[in-house]
Amino acid sequence: MSKLSNEEINNIRNSVNIVDVVSTYIPLTKRGKNHFGVCPFHDDRDPSLSVSSEKQIYTCFSCGATGNIFTFIMDYDHVSFYEALKKVADIGGIAVDIGYTKPTVQKYGELYDIYETAQLFYQNNINTEYGFSAKEYLNNRGIDEAIIKEFGIGLSLKDNEMLTKLLKKKKFSDEDLIKSGLVVNNNYGHNDIYYNRIMFPLTDISGKIVGYSGRTFNNEDTSKYINTKETPIFKKGELLYNYHRAKDECRLKKQVIIMEGFMDIIRAHSNGVKNVVATMGTAFTKNQAVLIKKLAPEVIICFDGDNAGARATIACSNELINIGIIPKIIRLENNMDPDDYIKEYGINRFQHKIDNPMNVMDFKISYLKNNRNLDNDSDMANYINDVLSELVQIEDDILRELTIKKVSEESGLDIEIIKNQLAQKQDIKKPVTAIAKPIINKPKIIDKYMMAQQNLLYYMLKSKEVITVYNKKVSFMPTTRYRFLAQEINYFYKEYKYFDLADFFSFIADKEDMLKTIGEIMNLNLKEEYTLEEIDEYVNAIKEFHVNNECNRLVEQMKKETDVMEKAKIAEKIRELKVGTNL
Ligand code: UTP
Ligand code: MN
Repeated sequence: MSKLSNEEINNIRNSVNIVDVVSTYIPLTKRGKNHFGVCPFHDDRDPSLSVSSEKQIYTCFSCGATGNIFTFIMDYDHVSFYEALKKVADIGGIAVDIGYTKPTVQKYGELYDIYETAQLFYQNNINTEYGFSAKEYLNNRGIDEAIIKEFGIGLSLKDNEMLTKLLKKKKFSDEDLIKSGLVVNNNYGHNDIYYNRIMFPLTDISGKIVGYSGRTFNNEDTSKYINTKETPIFKKGELLYNYHRAKDECRLKKQVIIMEGFMDIIRAHSNGVKNVVATMGTAFTKNQAVLIKKLAPEVIICFDGDNAGARATIACSNELINIGIIPKIIRLENNMDPDDYIKEYGINRFQHKIDNPMNVMDFKISYLKNNRNLDNDSDMANYINDVLSELVQIEDDILRELTIKKVSEESGLDIEIIKNQLAQKQDIKKPVTAIAKPIINKPKIIDKYMMAQQNLLYYMLKSKEVITVYNKKVSFMPTTRYRFLAQEINYFYKEYKYFDLADFFSFIADKEDMLKTIGEIMNLNLKEEYTLEEIDEYVNAIKEFHVNNECNRLVEQMKKETDVMEKAKIAEKIRELKVGTNL
């Protein structure tokens, strides 16, 4: 692996402005010196992430996420430091040869290796004579060679021990075979779980294969799809089909479309609509909502046109609304799914649908009207009540006004009455958030030694003068994580003869704990200026802590000592220590 120098890394970092790059990921608004946006690293709807053009760093004052452009991309895209570096270099137009980046040894590496072997096997199968009818099936569905390759589609053979044999030959342990979800141990010994199915690899958000869905294609009697069971690396609720392929396109278009099935995705993608991800038929989770939030500001739900699809649309939009996203909705006629629709009417008509989505309240309104007779007063009252309950969740003034107007027109009720009703519901909702907030921000009670370390670190991060003081006067910090951070700051300063926080972030980009500690320290928000007297106070507090510690140790030692002369010696030591620091 070719290692870049600190200077080269800084040049790459300086080739872009953090504000420009971050704003391609999340919308930012300028307020004062800094830019603000909704932090993508925790579940929030307030703009708590501040991005500084001057310092080239970002900090979230709610969750404490902090770093420079590299750590932002690492965290956001789940990539390594060198991948982030490469991306920034590309944006900045700097040619770098980072060379081969050695994959870090990873947990569950053997599971990934098993899927890699299986993938080669399945993909090879579909290209042999055994794959003929599977290919015919796929081709009939409009899936050609190029798409088969792009989506890694393969085939498990009729003989249900082929993969097992291959994996055993490769010396994977029986335990790992079972764990992978590709092999079962039954009365006949070990066998393949998948046979005679078209295999769709499922990937995690970084694009690594973590499981399969196998579709039957010439046997009507068995279940349509069989999915790999959940494993430590495959949790259906934590991934979205096609995420890694779609993410750049979503960012470019500032729009993401959520579908249900992977056939829908493959159809849309192969027709050029590539900003699509799928839930794969399971209930949409909060985890998935957070993933979606990272992809793009505009979210469109385009589920199957049947009733189940409508129900799933409601559930999905509620998860999104919970984390502050107001989705738009597309409904397809005649119970069609996107795959059917595009096949039947063509991509242009589908694109027209995407360009003209419903707002989520209109969809909910039509959904809530189902099975209700609005000529009946009690049905109407329930209907209005339900609509308002949904509306309370939505923080969008325009959408609120529009909906209230519609409800008023439909019911003949005065707008003010409806607004009052809504306000009452809001009051019921409010206390919950009002209680929830302070708990998160509750200041921790800390002693003066903690405070001294934190304050000292705060100014070390801002001034090399303070680093020098620390260097001269403090032997080490008592609290481990503060000690590590101080050591690292010191090391950087000694090595490079300057200190700049944005550059320092590159230096510790892989150290998640340390980044967290810095976030915690920066969120102290102390005053800009410090005096050397204050710094000395912190230094002395730390010294005092060490002396106290040492005295306590000596007192214990003295208690155990039986020799009177030795006891006296220790007592003298304690006295000297205390005099030395005026305790
Ligand atoms: P659908 O039944 O809508 O499948 O389920 P589909 O996408 O239209 O598939 P085709 O067109 O019949 O081939 C939507 C999603 O639910 C999951 C799959 O992920 C599927 O893409 N599903 C469905 C299963 O996991 N198992 C099943 O038996 C059926
Ligand atoms: Mn379908």
